[in-house]
Amino acid sequence: MDERRQERQKSSGEKRGIPRLLSWGSLSLFAVMILSACGPSGEKPYTTLSPASETADDIHSLYKLVFWLSLIVFVGVQFALVYLSLRYRRKKSDTKRPPQVHGNKRLELLWTIIPAVVLLVLLVPTLNILFDQDARANEGSLQVDVYGKQWWWEFDLGEDTVQGGQDLDVTTANEIVIPVGRNTVFNLYSNNVIHSFWIPQLSGKLDVIPGHVNSISITPTETGTFYGECAEFCGAQHAWMRFKITVVEEDEFYAWVNNWRTSPAISAQEQPEGSSVIQAPQKFSVCLSCHTYNGAENANALSGIDAFSTYGPDLTMLVCRETFAAGMMEMTHENLVQWLMDPDSIKPGNYMGTMIGPGKAVELTQAEAEEMADFLFSMVPEGGCTTADGWNTTDTAATPAVESTPVSTEATPAA
Ligand code: CUA
Repeated sequence: MDERRQERQKSSGEKRGIPRLLSWGSLSLFAVMILSACGPSGEKPYTTLSPASETADDIHSLYKLVFWLSLIVFVGVQFALVYLSLRYRRKKSDTKRPPQVHGNKRLELLWTIIPAVVLLVLLVPTLNILFDQDARANEGSLQVDVYGKQWWWEFDLGEDTVQGGQDLDVTTANEIVIPVGRNTVFNLYSNNVIHSFWIPQLSGKLDVIPGHVNSISITPTETGTFYGECAEFCGAQHAWMRFKITVVEEDEFYAWVNNWRTSPAISAQEQPEGSSVIQAPQKFSVCLSCHTYNGAENANALSGIDAFSTYGPDLTMLVCRETFAAGMMEMTHENLVQWLMDPDSIKPGNYMGTMIGPGKAVELTQAEAEEMADFLFSMVPEGGCTTADGWNTTDTAATPAVESTPVSTEATPAA
């Protein structure tokens, strides 16, 4: 043995490099396991392990296949490694170098064919599911156009085959309701940067790309509340680009649609007659340069943004949502006042914060913000918000009866 090799062996023995690496590795693995077990009261809204739609189910089946195949390969390789190391280790009685072998056709063929077979076993079902999902995205029963914004989501409910292909024409932000068991197709648009649409329990990730429409089919197999998020870094508030999907029975879904349609419409500064809606504060006109309400075309809307109907979220049934600012703030009067006074301090970099706040073009006093919040909280459909599990409500007692399936187009208030 030459000197250098002896030196190397000595130093590696002193540092005990490999055992130390192993102990750090297992420690961090342990930490990750502990951390992943944490979460709000044991809920795991972003788990991919409990699929609740056909799409997610397919992906989960691939996940299981990859997991078990990987486990077999891992155990096989580790077993061979340990066995061969022990079986052919250098013994004290060994005095000569063993014969040195270069190349073995049979072995090389074997370790080429086995991985090729493993990959083939993965490829066939993967392609199958890919084509299947693509086909389903072309035969949707309900169309939802999704616009990725910085940093929130706009949802436009469109064509509905159950309603004879009628356009439901419901626009909302960050929180959406869809019917269980229906193939709902989400068409993804962006007019800014690339986002990624992901509801772990309902779908895989799909990029939202400017200038290209991607479509994803989701057929929920169970009712409940599911959470989604943006999965592609898209700027300062990428982390606060969350959304909520509530899956309900079909009649409840149409109740929500009707609820949206009968939600009070604002008409300039007038107070709608015979409703609990209070008069809009004067400064509300400032809001209307970026926001709209119940499909109303607003005079101040900036032109040339037809495909992207609003700069800010549609405010229809705003206070019926559980949160605002894309999942960031709980929908309470107090939080809304805080937001209206200084949105930039809450969600730095958001567009509203460039217009409104201390030292900005528009400053609201505490009293003005309170008045604005009072007004927004009064803008609920008659009888309060429609309720379902996990669905925010302002007045549960007065929830209107669930309407039958047909959606009346007459209920849509004129612009
Ligand atoms: Cu949008 Cu990240």
